[in-house]
Amino acid sequence: MRKLMDQITDEVTKAFTAAGYEARYGKVTLSNRPDLCEYQCNGAMAAAKNYKSAPFVIADEVAARLAGNPMFSMAESVKPGFLNLKLNASYLADYLSDMQADRERFGCEKTTEPKTIIVDYGGPNVAKPLHVGHLRSAIIGESIKRIGNFMGHRMIGDVHLGDWGLQMGLIITELKERRPELVYFDESFEGEYPKEAPFTIFELDEIYPAASKRSKEDEDYKKAAMQATGELQNGRRGYGALFQHILEISVSDLKQNYENLNVFFDLWKGESDVQPYIADMVAKMKADGFAYESDGALVVDVREETDTKEIPPCIILKSDGASLYSTTDLATIVWRMEEYHPDGMIYLADKRQEMHFIQVFRCAKKTGLLDSNTSLQYIGFGTMNGKDGKPFKTRDGGVMKLADLISEINAEMLLKITENRKMKENLLISEEEALATAKTVALAAVKYGDLSNQAGKDYIFDMDRFTSFEGNSGPYLLYTIVRIKSILNKYHALGKNEGDLRILPAHSDLEKNLMTELAKFNAVMETAFEESAPHKICSYLYDLANAFNSFYHETKIMTEEDELVQQSYIRLLDLTKSILEICIDVLGFEAPERM
Ligand code: ARG
Repeated sequence: MRKLMDQITDEVTKAFTAAGYEARYGKVTLSNRPDLCEYQCNGAMAAAKNYKSAPFVIADEVAARLAGNPMFSMAESVKPGFLNLKLNASYLADYLSDMQADRERFGCEKTTEPKTIIVDYGGPNVAKPLHVGHLRSAIIGESIKRIGNFMGHRMIGDVHLGDWGLQMGLIITELKERRPELVYFDESFEGEYPKEAPFTIFELDEIYPAASKRSKEDEDYKKAAMQATGELQNGRRGYGALFQHILEISVSDLKQNYENLNVFFDLWKGESDVQPYIADMVAKMKADGFAYESDGALVVDVREETDTKEIPPCIILKSDGASLYSTTDLATIVWRMEEYHPDGMIYLADKRQEMHFIQVFRCAKKTGLLDSNTSLQYIGFGTMNGKDGKPFKTRDGGVMKLADLISEINAEMLLKITENRKMKENLLISEEEALATAKTVALAAVKYGDLSNQAGKDYIFDMDRFTSFEGNSGPYLLYTIVRIKSILNKYHALGKNEGDLRILPAHSDLEKNLMTELAKFNAVMETAFEESAPHKICSYLYDLANAFNSFYHETKIMTEEDELVQQSYIRLLDLTKSILEICIDVLGFEAPERM
């Protein structure tokens, strides 16, 4: 369906041209004086300069042409030359009825030019614990992917595992110290390696931090780890087999973790998967004259004339020939182009990685790894801080593990839900249901708390605010959905149904306000996709929930005596529920049946 704002602009534009003015002056926006009107057009002010006329004269002429137009209940010119507009209630009701008839998309059309876009998010490092920084990447990336899918694009989520760095050498070295007898360390061994890994995920979780700590204190140990990393990368068999074990165990643990967050990847590719592409890529960069040696390392210059700050060359290979973070990112681009020919790639990573992405993107473009119409976009996100404004830590000051954070929120939510059920309905809820509900609501609390901020900004993780049932929080939205579900259930339990009537024109200002919010749905989705901005869906959700709750508090729905009016209310509630549910789904969480 054409966006409501565009329909209104069309009408006003026609009035401008009919009065002899250029079409571009007809642009309509939401009113910034909601006490006076719903929409406004300031075009007469701009046109006045061009047509050497007084703004109010033009506004008057346009208003006269709009008089009697069934779209508006009011189209009036006010000094010095504004056009104030109110939509006709029946026009709005018809728009909503059409939305409702479109049972799956509610007036938000799929794009006519579907694109293939790879979203590179999550970015966990194999064998290192997931920390809260990875949480943001997962939450925002998942939402961007879902928004794109809803708009009809082909979004491919790739976890892009960090699995090819020093951490592998560290684990191998530590394991060698602890259990030198393992067959993986016997260089003369030519047989088949065991299928079972020689460690569990719990051991692995302990081995990495121990090794990392020791490498900081012991130079020789660090050298050994670097050498092991090099040997692994150069194909030492035993190390390769250990690597496979580490990968398998880590990945199944990671999958579980992400599933708990309602985060699902289409591809589980990692840095190690693109090893086979590096040699050819590097050779070509050299042959084409882009890559040259500098201080022993192989680099590509990526400076540009317009730079206002120093952009150092992109390092392709270290002096010992080892690959780096940028090497695997570049080779990944090669692989993705070959495999998917995407129209775009979107990367999510901490905003402190900005320089890395500037270098990689420029290098990829300069050396011709991309098609001219493939775009690269980096979304750098801010830090999640504690109440002290510093990066979120555990109570004793350590790095907060993701799993611990999630269980803390789950526990807090469980308390709240049990309280709420006791207070509101004096109903005891089974422990099982309480636990499941707590998990669902807790996820909404974390995700909404995160997504409602612009991605690039730091934000404060505030347990009380995030888990509150009131105010701008995930639980508040879920509460609104649950409230609607319960009204609909009560209504249907009376044996009534909403019939096939269209939605009636609003009976009150609050109802009209709710309708106006609902009608914005397609426009909001479109903008959120174009700007990769889930926070725009969040603020829409909050406005919509507020509009609904105000309407609900002022309107007797269940006791409405006029059956047709009641049916229309119920249809409006049903539409509100659908829109709220689609929006939270693209944000990556869902609502329980009750809470
Ligand atoms: N593994 C990286 C980290 O933990 C994030 C990866 C981001 N994606 C990428 N293609 N570089 O910081």
